[in-house]
Amino acid sequence: MNKIGIVTSGGDSPGMNSAVRAAVRSALFYGLTPYGVLEGYKGLIEDNIVELKHADVSNIISRGGTILHTARSKEFRTDEGQDMAVANLKKHGIEALVVIGGDGSLSGAKALYDKYNIKSVGIPGSIDNDIYGTDVSLGVDTALGVIMNSVDMINNTASSHGRTFIIEVMGRHSGYLAVMAGIATGADAVIIPEVKPDMESIVTKFKKRAEDGKTRNILIVAEGAGSAYDFAKILQDAGTFDARITVLGHVQRGGSPSYFDRVLGSRMGTAAVEGLMNGKTGVMTGLQGNKITYVPYEDVFSKKREMNKNVVKLLDVLT
Ligand code: F6P
Repeated sequence: MNKIGIVTSGGDSPGMNSAVRAAVRSALFYGLTPYGVLEGYKGLIEDNIVELKHADVSNIISRGGTILHTARSKEFRTDEGQDMAVANLKKHGIEALVVIGGDGSLSGAKALYDKYNIKSVGIPGSIDNDIYGTDVSLGVDTALGVIMNSVDMINNTASSHGRTFIIEVMGRHSGYLAVMAGIATGADAVIIPEVKPDMESIVTKFKKRAEDGKTRNILIVAEGAGSAYDFAKILQDAGTFDARITVLGHVQRGGSPSYFDRVLGSRMGTAAVEGLMNGKTGVMTGLQGNKITYVPYEDVFSKKREMNKNVVKLLDVLT
């Protein structure tokens, strides 16, 4: 193996740059030639592929986003798109890929491996933390820092006015960000897609606390559980709550990566290249405990990452 391609795909997440940097630097360290695929799988189809030198990844570890750019490519889901992508890889003599992204991106890598025997090692990058096989995905820690700071700030004004705030955080299918942010900010209630919301008991709890003198409430909602506006209406209809809404949106995917994400990206980027060199393919790097492991794509897609019940229980106790 002489040439490897590095792709970031799907929604970006802070720490992707540290993984790109580590993959490039490790490839060079071991005598391989690294190529960057620009704009994810779209760049693979459009032959937007450039050789990366040591200096190309200088000074990127502290930057959010991805210097390789990213996209969600519909065309890559078709046989024609995949054929074109493989033809371009062959044209450049690229024998293996490091794919950094969420479940859609990793399933693209799996398709290339299953159908065309293109070797790859994936790196889980998604703020949602919904990927099986790793305790944490790249970007989660930074996103939680952003959410925590935002909720702390909202909490200041909520306390001054004695108001109820509903804060919607990302997480299409996963309540991980909402639960962890709920614990870290001392929220009063959290609504997640994994658990049917019990608005009646939330209303009862908020009313009871108001009688005891606590008029400020923070309710964190994961986007996959429903719209913050709908939950606000339920509270408003319940009478006593003058609820305000903040949808944090894409601010959660931005910002300079945390120490944790920089180190995780560095470890996973290097592990991906070393894995390929040692014959590993069709696997994703995972952080399990404090060890970097290789998780087969089969497991990543056939098993579901469950919400840690102890953490949900902790939230129940604390709210
Ligand atoms: O998968 C990560 C994620 O941030 C989700 O939480 C969110 O629903 C989605 O991406 C938003 O995607 P886009 O940036 O394409 O709108």
